[in-house]
Amino acid sequence: MLPPPSPLSPPSVPQAPPAEAVTPLIRGLDVLRRLTDADATLALAELARATGLARSTVDRVCATLAHLGYVRLDGRDASLAPPLMAVANACLDALRVPELLGPLADRLADTLDESVSLAVPDGPDIRFVHQVLRRRALSISFRVGDALPLAGSAPGLVFRDGVPLAVDDQLVEPGLIAVAVPVRGPAGDVVCAVSVVSHTSRHGVASLSRAVREELDACVAEMEEALATSPHPQGLRPGPRSSIAGGPVIGPVASLARGLSLLTAFDAAHPALTLSRIAERTGLARATARRALLTYQHLGYAAPEANRTYRLTPRVLALGCAPLSRTTLPRIAAPHLAALSERLGESVGLSVRDSVPDGDWVRCTARVAPRRVMAVDIGVGSRLPAAVTAAGHVLSEGTETAVVDGPEDGLRSVAVPVRDRDGRVVSALDVTGHQGRGATGDWARALRATGAAVAADLHVTSRFVAVPAH
Ligand code: PHB
Repeated sequence: MLPPPSPLSPPSVPQAPPAEAVTPLIRGLDVLRRLTDADATLALAELARATGLARSTVDRVCATLAHLGYVRLDGRDASLAPPLMAVANACLDALRVPELLGPLADRLADTLDESVSLAVPDGPDIRFVHQVLRRRALSISFRVGDALPLAGSAPGLVFRDGVPLAVDDQLVEPGLIAVAVPVRGPAGDVVCAVSVVSHTSRHGVASLSRAVREELDACVAEMEEALATSPHPQGLRPGPRSSIAGGPVIGPVASLARGLSLLTAFDAAHPALTLSRIAERTGLARATARRALLTYQHLGYAAPEANRTYRLTPRVLALGCAPLSRTTLPRIAAPHLAALSERLGESVGLSVRDSVPDGDWVRCTARVAPRRVMAVDIGVGSRLPAAVTAAGHVLSEGTETAVVDGPEDGLRSVAVPVRDRDGRVVSALDVTGHQGRGATGDWARALRATGAAVAADLHVTSRFVAVPAH
């Protein structure tokens, strides 16, 4: 099941931008929106058609986005890339709801054994900011960043009608039912809605409401307590200052790169910023920051607040978050594996520990093999005993760089760990080829660099969403 396209996109006949709006920024944001709606990838020619921009303009905009690491260019296609998640992370961090209430939603999902989500209002929509999914044959595929119309979803009805409980009896999708209730901040305002989502094969709306009501009410009470007692975000340690990723950009779309840097100036410690603070945190000239802010405000990505401050709106999550969240470690690693295999001319793979039902095994989760006569043939999904592979040594013993000859005569495999945000080894990255074809030290150095790049993409992606290791 695919989420329905957001009714916000393509932006319904936009009002003319103010004279001072930054045109390259408008174009760059439009490109990111189109890629998001296309679930991450579009041909450059298709992007030109969809945006109405000249192909040469699309090429320049995409080259700038690629320079920032936000987009990957692959032949004729442009795809959203994991570093863009930094933008969604800034928005989610500044919102505070995922960090403060996410763990309570996770617990509720465990208790009820149903999917649970947190959503916030976003203009005519609601937007998901936390999702706990149950993997089932029939499962919900909404991700953090996806939007649903206010009138067509249980959380939407909570916001629109101000009701204490709303149900969705297959409004969104046949078979899908949901119950949503409001969560209030200390001032009594509705901060978000928590939903329990199930399927008609398990429940009707009445039985779902009955079955979950008690646990849901208890969870909401805890959530409201967490909101009331959380330390004021301004008191938290400030995050790293944002700067334009990838170094200075020269050329006509430097204003796009400068404008985008404004989004990551926000975080939990800086959920609302004045123009002067934005200029200070981004290093942009005040006039530049003002024009970028005006552009974001015009497009609905930022909104003014009290005391001359501005906040990001949840619409910022429409810039890549959902497609980038719908991922796994092997998918994140794939382009890095391909680049390394191409560079070394050897087979490069990723594997996980697999001790089910018994023994100590490693299972290959991704592999890129060069086209050559004598290439290693270890398919995705195949299992090898941990003891005979370098990946096995990394995964079961925590070795930093493992070198193993075998499992067949003449084969050598070198492996390094890939760690999650908490430092746990979640996968092993290996180069496997014939002994004597490459220097082991070179392979190890190249693996460490690639492992670091894969880990960086994993860490930025998994800050607020769970990324399966396979
Ligand atoms: C809904 O159908 O209202 C709905 C769907 C998925 C959610 C929450 C609500 O996560």
